[in-house]
Amino acid sequence: MYKLKTIADNVFYVGVNDRQKALFENMWPLPYGVSYNSYLIVDEKTVLIDTVDICYSDIFLKKIEDALQGRSLDYLIVDHMEPDHAGSIRLLRQRYPDMQIVGNNKTFGMLAGYHGINTGLYEVKEGDSLDTGHHKLTFYMAPMVHWPEVMVTYDETDKILFSADAFGTFGTLDGNVIDAEMNTEHYWEEMIRYYSNIVGKYGSPVQRALQKLSGLDIQTICSTHGPVWREQKGKAIQIYDQLSRYEGEEGVSLIYGSMYGNTEQMAEVIASSLSDHGIKNIVMHNVSKSNASYILKDVFKYKGVIVGSPTYSNQLFPEVEAVLNKIELREIKNRYFGYFGSFTWAGAAVKRLAAFNEKMNWEVIGEPVEQKQGLLSEKYDECRALGKAMAEKLKQQ
Ligand code: FEO
Repeated sequence: MYKLKTIADNVFYVGVNDRQKALFENMWPLPYGVSYNSYLIVDEKTVLIDTVDICYSDIFLKKIEDALQGRSLDYLIVDHMEPDHAGSIRLLRQRYPDMQIVGNNKTFGMLAGYHGINTGLYEVKEGDSLDTGHHKLTFYMAPMVHWPEVMVTYDETDKILFSADAFGTFGTLDGNVIDAEMNTEHYWEEMIRYYSNIVGKYGSPVQRALQKLSGLDIQTICSTHGPVWREQKGKAIQIYDQLSRYEGEEGVSLIYGSMYGNTEQMAEVIASSLSDHGIKNIVMHNVSKSNASYILKDVFKYKGVIVGSPTYSNQLFPEVEAVLNKIELREIKNRYFGYFGSFTWAGAAVKRLAAFNEKMNWEVIGEPVEQKQGLLSEKYDECRALGKAMAEKLKQQ
């Protein structure tokens, strides 16, 4: 019944779109939805690569059944055990009891823990291959891209890399799955957001994986989320490379909290000064309105970060603190940092922003500005100076 999209001869897309979930990992907004990608190779042996979220197992199993045309499933390769991909393993095993599950020793620990499955396992190690007839699949370990058990599968026959979460992006696949046959414009920002929200902490492991895979002749990248990259695979690789090296573009994420608008006025002055000194990419995030998902995206994207906060019960404004915790958790490196704050009777925000940066170890640019109550001319000039210093530093890059 299903007319499946073909990636190569006898390699089919059998993944699904999730247009219903509001929050990925119950945290990250999905304005364009998300896809859970799975691929089926119908060779002398039949091989499925990853599964989908349990919520979509019904349609997923029907697609597989259609593609198999009465044959059984010989192997399931589990590149990643996170439930958005591993959620349907137990059902698959019930449907295809002789199916061998291919994974590494870390995969199998999680398989037992999540699904109680301990039998029918086919363990692979770095560089091992599986011959399925026409295809030869080779496995490379990619620990911490995004979990410790992650591995990728390379089809030497058709030069396809099944890359698990790597090169993934938010966004459903609307009508097609291959980049050349779709308008991919909105995926690039969503790729940065996906990377920063989900994989962002693991820059070094991503770099190690990119190095390891750089010797392979990769013609097609089949990630577990988003389009199949073929024509634009170079751009996808470049984005992951740049983000995992913490390289930022010329621009500033100006992140602030404000209760009555006084701290916001400081942010406006700094932004205006940045612009007057040649910076075009200025993204202002009022933390009470901007979702942290988008703030993280911009902190990964731009080299400059300026944070402002009112003093709240001798602490940072709690909404600012919540965002800083998410930034700190991702151990984002090599940013230029400016900061400012305000108070009414006793200042604390500025010194707490300084303490935040002791953990991040970013290069402090300009003088921090601390304002008592409303914005007066002396502090106005200091805000201008902070914006100018950041702009000049960014222009020196
Ligand atoms: Fe899409 Fe780490 O799972």
